[in-house]
Amino acid sequence: MARHHYWFSACLVCVLASTGSAQTLRKAADRAGVLIGTAVRPSQFSERRYASVLAREFNMVEPEDALKWWVVRPDRHTYDFRAGDKVVRFAQAHQMQVRGHCLVWGRDNPDWLTRGHFTSRQLSHFLRDHISRVMKHYGDQVFAWDVVNEALDENGKLRDSIWYNQPGIGLAASGTAYIEQVFRWAHKACPGALLFYNEAEGETVNRKSDAIYAMVKDFKERGVPIDGVGLQMHISGNDIENESMTASISANIARLAALGIQVHITEFDVSVPVDSSGLASRDDLKQQADIYRGVVRACLENAGCTAIQTWGFTDRYSWIRSHSRGTRGQALLFDRDYEPKAAYQAVLSELSAGRVLSYPRSVHPSN
Ligand code: XIL
Repeated sequence: MARHHYWFSACLVCVLASTGSAQTLRKAADRAGVLIGTAVRPSQFSERRYASVLAREFNMVEPEDALKWWVVRPDRHTYDFRAGDKVVRFAQAHQMQVRGHCLVWGRDNPDWLTRGHFTSRQLSHFLRDHISRVMKHYGDQVFAWDVVNEALDENGKLRDSIWYNQPGIGLAASGTAYIEQVFRWAHKACPGALLFYNEAEGETVNRKSDAIYAMVKDFKERGVPIDGVGLQMHISGNDIENESMTASISANIARLAALGIQVHITEFDVSVPVDSSGLASRDDLKQQADIYRGVVRACLENAGCTAIQTWGFTDRYSWIRSHSRGTRGQALLFDRDYEPKAAYQAVLSELSAGRVLSYPRSVHPSN
């Protein structure tokens, strides 16, 4: 009977989704009950087309760099929230949610910190103060934080970092204890915020995602306050088996969600090879659209996957060109002139199809 009920409401959702033609990602995502976000650079808000596409298509933003240590902490004594505040003001003006990124990372830290030869005691003090000051400054204006970013290497071992063991905050020989410590500090600073562990290259089932899974399972069993895992999802769109990749992503999302946490796709982009003028082949852009479609579907078919966020939205501004030294690019949903690409249509159609019908039985809450 309950199952009957479920299929009935599923069909209803299906009908609603197909008759009401959602013309933007944002409308379709609202209807599907998922957040659709993008990383943003506040220096671009003054560009009319940037601002209007952003407000029209997305219901969530995340500062791409504006809340990183090197921006917020120009020196030991200063907290500079100007860039982050611009993002929050834009979001408020357009009824968007804000994700915070990121409080603890071994990279993108200012020189005064990394070259300061501080003791573990001093670093522990700096980090606790940083987490508390930044989270309290934003309060409930930021609903979710990447508390820790990229703490694991490709084998699932903890990366060396200033916060872990170089010299670390005093928990260098204790595995994930330093991560546990900062989640506890974050929860104390802002009990209402959702706290995420964010990671690269742990999207499919592999050694790194096994380690993330084990850590989160341990944290949940011991009551460490963690609410979610962010899967960055920077994908190189050539050498991959599309279908088996998205099946593996879906399985990974399902096992994380089964621990009682949320999964956010946090930094989604699909880079493709580009020529010297920055242009990709039509075939690669088509394959890119298929990858976007597959990943969005993998999220929507898991109830615990609650947000899909791309790392920028226009090929005009993306970290990929410089990161790949000009060999890759065109990774996002809109081209350099803000025209929607095939990838955009793929994401829109997946979002418009809604999420209920696609639940595999094994992860639907009523099963
Ligand atoms: C990148 C930004 O996009 C660039 O603007 C910046 O120069 C370097 O950092 N994983 C992360 C992000 O968690 O913070 C990184 O962002 C991309 C990889």
